[in-house]
Amino acid sequence: MKNKKITRKITQGMYILTTTNGGCVVDAVSQISSGDNPLISVAVMKSNYTNELLQTNTKFALSVVGKNINPEIIKTFGYNSMRDINKFENIETTEINEIKIINDSLGYMVCEIIERIDNDTHTLFIGKLVNCDVFKDEEAMSYQYFQEHKDELIQLKKQEGQTSWKCTICGYIHTGDNPPEKCPLCGVPADMFVKVE
Ligand SMILES: Cc1cc2nc3c(=O)[nH]c(=O)nc-3n(C[C@H](O)[C@H](O)[C@H](O)COP(=O)(O)O)c2cc1C
Repeated sequence: MKNKKITRKITQGMYILTTTNGGCVVDAVSQISSGDNPLISVAVMKSNYTNELLQTNTKFALSVVGKNINPEIIKTFGYNSMRDINKFENIETTEINEIKIINDSLGYMVCEIIERIDNDTHTLFIGKLVNCDVFKDEEAMSYQYFQEHKDELIQLKKQEGQTSWKCTICGYIHTGDNPPEKCPLCGVPADMFVKVE
């Protein structure tokens, strides 16, 4: 492996994946068939609580992230686990097909899970699109845009006076005496972290 950063050039969008009792930010989404009910796949890390939920829940929804989204939504869903906080407490949602959809999004897709494929670090959930709508016809946020603007969007900065570690793959900042065992965002091990001076 030489420079994994090239994978960031794979064009991907940003979505808030929700399901009953949880959800998280995802970028690993693809439309993999066409027709009236196209199939949509999403890869969810096995260590995420959302993965646990999707093993038994029958549906998921993807709220599409626009460039002007309130960054707090990305912070809440992408940098926290539902194991620790209630992500829905301070975020406005509307229930559609019994799933909470993010109001401050460009629109949504509700999918019924038809297959779960076990991969190395992730499970690939394949869903059949059963309901969808557009809220706002604005520009979507790409994963690349997020990577290039995340410092100003969500203030991923070292906290003064504390030891911090930066993931060399995704830029996640961990505060503590030691790097985390695994990056909570991209899953790489502790040796991929460097100390932020
Ligand atoms: C920009 C961005 C993209 C992400 N993409 C994915 C993804 O495609 N798949 C995934 O499983 N996690 C992804 N994550 C990480 C999860 O959102 C994150 O680990 C979350 O805290 C998991 O929460 P949970 O434990 O409640 O499921 C992404 C996070 C960010 C900030």
